[in-house]
Parts: sequence; structure tokens; C-alpha cells
Amino acid sequence: MTGSRRTHIIGVGGYLPRRVVTNAELAERVDTSDQWIVERTGIRQRHLAADGERTSDLAAAAARQALEVAGVTIDDIDALVVATTTPDLIFPSTAAIVQSKLGGAGFPAWDIQAVCAGFVYGLAQLDAMMRAGMFRRVLLIGAETMSRILNWDDRATCVLFGDGAGAVVLEQRAEAGGVIGSVLHGDGAHRDLLKAQYGSDVPRDRPDFHTDAAGVAAIAMRGNEVFRVAVKSLGAVVGEVLAAHNLTESDVDWLVPHQANLRIINAIAKRLTLPEERVAITVGIHANTSAASVPLALAHLHQQGRLQRDQLLLLESFGAGFVWGANLVRWSLGE
Ligand code: ACO
Repeated sequence: MTGSRRTHIIGVGGYLPRRVVTNAELAERVDTSDQWIVERTGIRQRHLAADGERTSDLAAAAARQALEVAGVTIDDIDALVVATTTPDLIFPSTAAIVQSKLGGAGFPAWDIQAVCAGFVYGLAQLDAMMRAGMFRRVLLIGAETMSRILNWDDRATCVLFGDGAGAVVLEQRAEAGGVIGSVLHGDGAHRDLLKAQYGSDVPRDRPDFHTDAAGVAAIAMRGNEVFRVAVKSLGAVVGEVLAAHNLTESDVDWLVPHQANLRIINAIAKRLTLPEERVAITVGIHANTSAASVPLALAHLHQQGRLQRDQLLLLESFGAGFVWGANLVRWSLGE
């Protein structure tokens, strides 16, 4: 019986805070330009959470939409996972807070911290648990308020990120399709190339604690080095997940990549010989929303009616650590 269980995506949703910040607006604060940002990253704008709007609020909004698309309620859910690197608090988990905001109780709720790869990691983890029969219906959410951990005076990083949330409802069905398989990797040797210091790493006198003017923990990144490893690692993992399931580049209908940089996305699309119309590209309008970027891109494609049932989707992501991975999914929604 276990062999026939498959994890299907039966609902998808997204939420973006109302406030849109253009490159031109950022250029009023730091020494940058719309031209530099567009040429180097493809980013034109990002959404930023309002004061008082928390990661859990974004997550709950995306989850409500995914539940509605799935035609189920929070009472039909038996586990809830939030992938985030910008939790509301160190504890309790953002998942526990979202559970309560959605009016759920009783079922397990936990966070996954794999930075930008959080959703891809979460889908792999939950697929394994659901195939093993632990859960029947699960909410997986990627949600971030990156704006809260950015140094708004550092032009090298503040232009890259945005806030948002994406969510999927996963259902175990004895039916072919759904999540075909996943491959995950990590290499902590690169841990200093991209980080946001907080927690036990921060000494009491904070000698090299990266903070912005308000004293908030901020992202520090050696972008050029991150870029090179990201292209190499993602190029390899997309080949690996296809080969593991006896599939080839020509079987892929959609590449749904992490939305960090258009140049990285284009490099992976080229590696897969996929034309632009088969690639989900939201980095221009959402910027890098870390763990939210892949589910937000899925929600965007779904809302535009561009995904068809049984199409093969290749999801991939890469984040600080480094951690990276890919999932192969047959789309289960629609006709
Ligand atoms: N505006 C104008 N100039 C800038 C800006 C800016 N916003 N930012 C940097 N520059 C300058 C630099 O100071 C540098 O100037 P110099 O030559 O005088 O020293 C020059 O532009 C080139 O800087 P590079 O860092 O070499 O620029 P690069 O072409 O590498 O682009 C970028 C930078 C966009 C950050 C790129 O390296 C990148 O996308 N890296 C990968 C990011 C990523 O994928 N992260 C992973 C996920 S994130 C996560 O896990 C949280």
C-alpha cells in the first residue's frame, strides 16, 4: 500500500504586502540606479510588509488562499509547516502562530529553516512523511519578511530582497503523479559567504555583529562568490533529479526556479534547453523572497492559468549555508 501513496498539490496560494517599492525609490536612499539593478538582477520592484505586518500574517493569508483553491478548511489539515528564515520570534515557531491565526489546533506544526531552499526542503520532507503514511493533508507555507533583516544602507543587499508568502495544500492520494521525487544538498563550508547574524553566534559585546542603524541583525553577502556556486550547484542538481527518475530535459514543461537573480535563472534554463516561456519568472516583480519565492512563483503561474494538469514541473532553490535542492512534480490541479 505504501508504494502507491503519492503526494499531490491540491491547492496553491500567494500573498504580497500592499506596498510596492521600485528601484527608483531605493535609489533615493542608497547609491544605486534602476539600470544597475535591472541589468545585474532583473529586479524592478519588490513588495514590503507594513509596520506590524509579521511573517505569520503573510503566511496565514497565503494559506487561506491555498485552502480555498483546494476546497478544504483548516479542520481538514493534519500538519502545518512554515519554511522561513525570518520567523516572528525565535520561539514559538511561526508555524504554531499561523496555526492559531488560522483557527487550527491539535495537529503538529513546525518551522523549517533552510533559508531560500526552505520550500524545496519542506516539500521533500513532507513528501517522505506522507508516503510513509504519517499525514493525509498538509499545509506547506514559505513566508518571509526579508525587509526586517536588511541593512537599508547596504546597496549590495538591500536592492535584492522582498517580502511575501506562498502556500500549497498537499494531499496523499493512491493515484499516479504529484511529487515524483526530490534531491537535497548542503555544504556548510560556505557558511560565511551569506549570513544574517543572530542567536548564539552573537557575543555579548557584539564585535562583528552586522547591524543596520536601528541595531537590527542584517544580511551580509559576498554576492559574486554566492553567484558562482549557485549557478554550478543548481545546474548539477536539476540534472541529478531528472536522472534519478529516468527523465530528461525534454520532459520538463516548467522550470520553477528560486527567484534570486534573472541571470542565475537564465543559466539554469539554458542548461535545461528550456525556452523563456517555459520558465516561471517573478524576480522582476517580487525580488528575492527567500523561502516564499518558489511557492509564490507557483501561485503566480496558477493564477494566470498557465499550468495544466499532468505537466512536469522542476522546482529548484539555493540558499545560505549553502543548502540547495530540486523537486520534480506532476501538476495535479485543473482539467
Ligand atoms: N548599485 C550599484 N552598484 C552596486 C550595487 C548597487 N545596488 N551593489 C553593488 N554594486 C557595485 C559593487 O560595489 C561593485 O563595485 P566595484 O566594482 O566598484 O567594487 C560592482 O557593483 C560589482 O559588484 P558585484 O558584487 O561584483 O556585482 P555582481 O555582478 O556580482 O552582482 C549580485 C551582484 C546581484 C548580488 C550578484 O552577485 C548575485 O545575484 N549574487 C547571488 C545572490 C544569490 O543568489 N543569493 C542566494 C540566495 S539568498 C539567501 O539565501 C538569503
